[in-house]
Amino acid sequence: MSVERIAVIGAGTMGHGIAQVAARAGFQTVLCDVGDELVAAALARIRAGLEKGVERGKVEPGEVETTLARLATSTSLTAAAAEADLIIEAIPEDMAVKRDLFARLETAAPPAALLATNTSSLSVATIAAVLADPGRLLGMHFFNPVHAMKLVEIVTHEANPAAAVETAVAVAERLGKTAIVVKDVPGFATSRLGVLLGLEAMRMLEQGVASARDIDTAMVLGYRHPMGPLELTDLVGLDVRLAIAEYLHEELGEAFRPPEVLRRLVDEGKLGKKSGEGFYKW
Ligand code: NAI
Repeated sequence: MSVERIAVIGAGTMGHGIAQVAARAGFQTVLCDVGDELVAAALARIRAGLEKGVERGKVEPGEVETTLARLATSTSLTAAAAEADLIIEAIPEDMAVKRDLFARLETAAPPAALLATNTSSLSVATIAAVLADPGRLLGMHFFNPVHAMKLVEIVTHEANPAAAVETAVAVAERLGKTAIVVKDVPGFATSRLGVLLGLEAMRMLEQGVASARDIDTAMVLGYRHPMGPLELTDLVGLDVRLAIAEYLHEELGEAFRPPEVLRRLVDEGKLGKKSGEGFYKW
């Protein structure tokens, strides 16, 4: 199946990044969210990201305008989906909300369009069960920040035909990413390991084992991680991490119980970098 047009639904942290790399890689891209101010902010963020890329010598100066010329925005799901070959969903990590969206996409999208969810942890098969043809939905799990992170987890379940998986891998590669194919199990390969590390770091912080900075430095200098688990949680968003931890706690057990400090910070609106404060002040 050939993909030329991509629709990205949800223009937040992940959606704007996915749309940016898609348009830059040459796909006709439409980015959809629920309000004009949200898509306008995402577009400004994409322009700023590309301009920063130019400053750093990672993006050719002419690419800013050619990329933006391939990128449209929409607040209508029906219009955004109408001509897409591939639709990538990046709305909040909530099973009911995602299922509702895909139920609507099933009629809004062309019958041959491949559907993908960027869920970090939810069961792709359970999301897909809302569709008459569950095989047309698989996971394409990108990482934050999308333009810089090389990995895409292609999350597959039993109903996916081989052609759907091959198409998703091919698109990921055309986006300049390395794709790994992972079975649809809670947390896939990445979140299952990464979230556990983050939660344990929070428990260590609660127990006064070391400061947030020193816990992070332990992993950066001791294990060559590019960034510590608490700083990474700030980058991902504490609310996003809490939702994932709650789900994995239900599915996989006690090791994933969300620590008190995580709940408290989320209650206080300290969601990490996006709100100005999480485990660190930004
Ligand atoms: P976000 O909260 O930054 O963005 C979500 C966007 O979706 C918001 O702009 C919201 O207005 C929009 N939205 C909500 N309902 C919508 C609808 N019906 N139609 C169109 N837009 C709608 O969330 P974020 O962080 O981008 O996460 C999105 C998904 O990506 C989640 O499933 C998350 O688990 C996953 N993910 C997040 C990562 C991260 O580092 N933040 C990393 C990898 C995956």
